[in-house]
Amino acid sequence: MRALKILFVSPEVEPFVKVGGLADMVGALPKELAKLGHDVRIVCPAYGSIKRTGEWRALDQPLGVDVGPATQWARTWQTVLPGTTVPVYFLENHDYFARPEVYTGPWGAHEDNDLRFAFLCRGALALCQQLDWIPDVVHGHDWTTGLLPVMLNTTLRATPLGRTATVYTIHNLEHQGYSPVRVVDFARLPLGEFQRDGIESGGMVNLMKAGLYHSTKLTTVSPTYAKEIVTPDGGFGLDAALRFRAGDLVGIVNGIDDESWDPAHDRALPAPYSAADLHGKALCKAALQRHFHLDVNPVVPLFGVVSRLAAQKGLDLLAEALPAIMEKMEIQLVLLGNGDGRMENTFQWAAQAYRGRCGAQIGFDGKLARLIQGGSDCFVMPSRSEPCGLTQMYAMRYGTLPIVRATGGLVDTVQNFEEGQARGTGFVFHAATAGALADTLGWACATYYDRPQEFAGLQQRAMAQDFSWRQSAAQYVELYRWAVEHRTGTYPA
Ligand code: ADP
Ligand code: GLC
Repeated sequence: MRALKILFVSPEVEPFVKVGGLADMVGALPKELAKLGHDVRIVCPAYGSIKRTGEWRALDQPLGVDVGPATQWARTWQTVLPGTTVPVYFLENHDYFARPEVYTGPWGAHEDNDLRFAFLCRGALALCQQLDWIPDVVHGHDWTTGLLPVMLNTTLRATPLGRTATVYTIHNLEHQGYSPVRVVDFARLPLGEFQRDGIESGGMVNLMKAGLYHSTKLTTVSPTYAKEIVTPDGGFGLDAALRFRAGDLVGIVNGIDDESWDPAHDRALPAPYSAADLHGKALCKAALQRHFHLDVNPVVPLFGVVSRLAAQKGLDLLAEALPAIMEKMEIQLVLLGNGDGRMENTFQWAAQAYRGRCGAQIGFDGKLARLIQGGSDCFVMPSRSEPCGLTQMYAMRYGTLPIVRATGGLVDTVQNFEEGQARGTGFVFHAATAGALADTLGWACATYYDRPQEFAGLQQRAMAQDFSWRQSAAQYVELYRWAVEHRTGTYPA
């Protein structure tokens, strides 16, 4: 079958810029697609904070981007995804991308996010034209890329790019990118597109909805989330639009980069280990306890959290359950996270109140995230909603048992422990209540202390799971081919 040309456009790419799991996905899936022989490239903004990992070179020609009243300009930097030949292009523009943050500054979401990301979309397409590299598929990710398919369906329809199919992946329906109508003009789109069966919601432009209506095919990051978002309870106001497109929507579970996330080769860990020899994991646990100034005790179960502190993640349930948990159970807890200020304070307070047993670090720290995965016995993820979730998969690969609420991708990736049955890879609960979470932590704790062999069996099964991208990448390729067939009338065999 013929190789495809695939362009990823994304606001985040690991290891250059990361806010959450979107970066991990965009840093990993293209690697697997390249291994399958496809010509895949990535475009991302060159934010002020971008990590210039590897060799970067600026393209000779400035890039003209047709937005606003007169053409604006970007400088294009080119590098590769580390360890691959996958090109990554970064668009530099002072007005839109010089500031360090991706979405949110010190005073909240940047008020020109609509313009910044319209610039990204139009810039990515302009770059294809400049390189004379016409992709078969443009693959956009979340609301920041919602205008890509609209541009290809309207202003650019009659150009060579007009035959390019689009795939749009919903990573998180909670963030939809509500924007003032000015963005229609700015992106030079026909005003006629500003309608309810299209990009309009409540008098504003809804960039997520734009992507949903205009893309050739739609995906989301797990089969369960794909079912949830077409219902009024899980659709965040877009369930009707999603039902309208249900025939084109597929749930494909994310994989993980299992070369980068491998306890046998992770340089962030003080000692490597594997399922066959878990010796190093005990050293990681001791290092983690030291990092958080906890009692260095190999016997007490250590529960870890690495998370954005956002309502979606359900960590308010953990905060609520914490006093009871710390009183009743002989456990330790460590948390790394940032986001909601009240939540940050609560966990910092807990670290003071339960000194020696509880630790919290507020901030973003990729290395410590790995030490928590390696050094904990269990990983706590009580999400209220979770499109896919990667951290529970990292945990399992590191022999750390996830304690998760049954929602979205957590349903698809964690199998509940069945006592005495030698089945399961973690502990699952249903009700989004502090009580249900506390009970489940208690269950994990009792399993750890009273049935160590069953606990060890869970660890072995968790570590044996195949969470690699191989299967899901193949599903994406099949979807890309359908999208091309739909767009051009010819299946790219
Ligand atoms: P989401 O994208 O909703 O935040 P995921 O589980 O898909 O959730 O991905 C989160 C990613 O971000 C993981 O790679 C996780 O390790 C990382 N992460 C989250 N918070 C932090 C933090 N405070 N420091 C370092 N890494 C973090
Ligand atoms: C989003 C979701 C998360 C998912 C990630 C990568 O940030 O919140 O569940 O794993 O995207 O697809």
